[in-house]
Amino acid sequence: MMTEQNFISEFPYNFVEKGEVQAQCSSNIALVKYWGKYANQIPANPSISYTLTNSCTQTSIQFEKAEKMSVKVFLDEVLQEKFAEKIEKYFNSIQKYLPFITQYQYVIRTHNSFPHSSGIASSASGFGAIALCLIEIAEQLGEVFPSEMKKRKASFLARLGSGSACRSLYGGLAVWGKHEKIHESSDLYAVPFPFEIHENFKKIQDTVLLIHEGEKKVSSTVGHKLLENHPYAQVRFAEAYKNLASMIDILRSGDLEAFGQLVEHEALTLHAMMLTSTPAFILMKPMTVAAIEKIWNYRKLTGQPLYFTLDAGANIHLLYPEKDKNVIFNFIKNDLLKYTENGDYIRDESRL
Ligand code: DP6
Repeated sequence: MMTEQNFISEFPYNFVEKGEVQAQCSSNIALVKYWGKYANQIPANPSISYTLTNSCTQTSIQFEKAEKMSVKVFLDEVLQEKFAEKIEKYFNSIQKYLPFITQYQYVIRTHNSFPHSSGIASSASGFGAIALCLIEIAEQLGEVFPSEMKKRKASFLARLGSGSACRSLYGGLAVWGKHEKIHESSDLYAVPFPFEIHENFKKIQDTVLLIHEGEKKVSSTVGHKLLENHPYAQVRFAEAYKNLASMIDILRSGDLEAFGQLVEHEALTLHAMMLTSTPAFILMKPMTVAAIEKIWNYRKLTGQPLYFTLDAGANIHLLYPEKDKNVIFNFIKNDLLKYTENGDYIRDESRL
């Protein structure tokens, strides 16, 4: 088992004058959700997610020797001052793990494959890409990572930027948070899902209905915090732990119905925790609920394996197996797009 000590670096860097690195990282969608954390980004319960294919962030970092560290961030060529402040704080917080970091000034250029206003969170793919860039810089300064350690350290660093980001470093299914059934699992970084996966779950489709485009009212950071004095928090954490164990069996067996039931329960529980926080908040929109009813109705009528999950927002992720994708996608196009704000959706999938 690795501890925080394993990520502290005392490497005698060769401080080059300047350089440039780039990296790309995909977004992910959780099946068992992370909601609630302790100090230093330690999750209150383990989570599992699919890393997506098309929804990703591409980032480049130019670095140059400087008296004092500074950070500039451009999103699609537009200067982002608030984001830069956040990244600078983040860089300062990870000095122990990358001691070169304070010796340079940075210009970060970043681009998301999904529209900025889509309401799709870019923090997972964004921090994943930055963490990969930072590891690349360490390599340019001479540090050598054993192959497994490279991704693991990127995952560790990404977690400190945004919890869910640490799962995005691996394609397919990734687990973050200690669980007795997964020996390698850790609260400090994510690991690839280590068990057999049934064909049904190998190329899962994720079509995202953009029900609400634009910023959400309450950030995840605030949402996590509200679990600190939440009457149902402990029950929720225990249930998520149990749900991850069930998910391991489901993924092996190929039971689509059990998969859908668990995934939808997780999504609705996440939002139930929001509804029962003090103060309460609601991130679903009326059209989120209307679309859910339509999905349930469709399933009842046709038996097709179409399920939904939600992130901390109003948008609906529609999950379905590749083998049924043509008929289900037709239904989505004809019957579900009307619930979106502008007819917009993102078609994605997870490839194992
Ligand atoms: C609802 O990872 O965005 O998407 O660690 O504060 O950055 P921070 O939170 P974040 O939390 C989002 C959680 C979620 C569920 C999940 O992805 O597991």
